[in-house]
Amino acid sequence: MNDVSTNSAQHGGQLGEGYGRTKTQDADFSHGIALYLENVSVWFDSFRALNDLSLYIAEGELRCIIGPNGAGKTTLMDVITGKTRPTTGTAFFGQNYDLAKMSTEQIAEAGIGRKFQKPTVFENFTVLENLLLAAPRDKRVKQSLFSRLDPEAQLALDETLEQIRLKELIHKPAGLLSHGQKQWLEIGMLLMQRPKLILLDEPVAGMTDAETERTAELCLELKKNHTLVVVEHDMSFIDTISEKVTVLAQGAILAEGTLAEVQANEDVIEKYLGR
Ligand SMILES: Nc1ncnc2c1ncn2[C@@H]1O[C@H](COP(=O)(O)OP(=O)(O)OP(=O)(O)O)[C@@H](O)[C@H]1O
Ligand SMILES: [Mg+2]
Repeated sequence: MNDVSTNSAQHGGQLGEGYGRTKTQDADFSHGIALYLENVSVWFDSFRALNDLSLYIAEGELRCIIGPNGAGKTTLMDVITGKTRPTTGTAFFGQNYDLAKMSTEQIAEAGIGRKFQKPTVFENFTVLENLLLAAPRDKRVKQSLFSRLDPEAQLALDETLEQIRLKELIHKPAGLLSHGQKQWLEIGMLLMQRPKLILLDEPVAGMTDAETERTAELCLELKKNHTLVVVEHDMSFIDTISEKVTVLAQGAILAEGTLAEVQANEDVIEKYLGR
């Protein structure tokens, strides 16, 4: 185990360090690419969930991924977050992080945050408590949930509450929030960890139209200082937020381009959109 105090001294002044984690080395985006997936395959027995897939996500990009059920979209996120190992191929975060060699915790600490398909907030805890629970902890000091937040953490909390628009509801138990508010809270819990790359798996599933619109706004706000990969089936949502869209089918990329471009693609029409 590394000595935490030595590490802190080496990487002093990094955001997030003051209140918590041993700051790991920053992901190196000097080539302008946040995520490299090269020839990635994932086999479950003889079934290929991902099939020789190569994908590059530029720093600051908001990439949408669409495709039929079972296409491998969630599996792709599993590979990026270390939940599933590629059977073959390589996955890098920036130039320097070989994701296939890291644990899920190490990947989160390196700056990749993920929202799962189903919200996983702690229902009996309030909005504030959920956010505090998600904040990186200082392993050197035994802290209680309510010990005074350090200024960096307070800033992260204020910014997050502003972005997810739950400021008025901080003392409400998460179990009493609407489905949409729970999804935003979970995004807030991600933001407390100050990720560089955010993965959202079907963020608007089950939301009302108004909640969906608000989530689109949130994604566009997050885009200002994060790289995002968003998986969704809701085409009007994709239309609102998307720049470049990747269509996945049977574990491989079917098409890439603007939403209009991929919607006009013959393969996409045949295998996904239908005629
Ligand atoms: N752990 C596993 N073991 C075996 N098969 C799996 C496993 N995880 C996923 N699969 C299979 O891999 C395929 C891709 O699944 P995945 O969940 O990535 O699809 P998806 O594109 O996210 O679909 P959806 O739009 O329905 O969420 C599916 O056929 C699924 O059944
Ligand atoms: Mg999925």
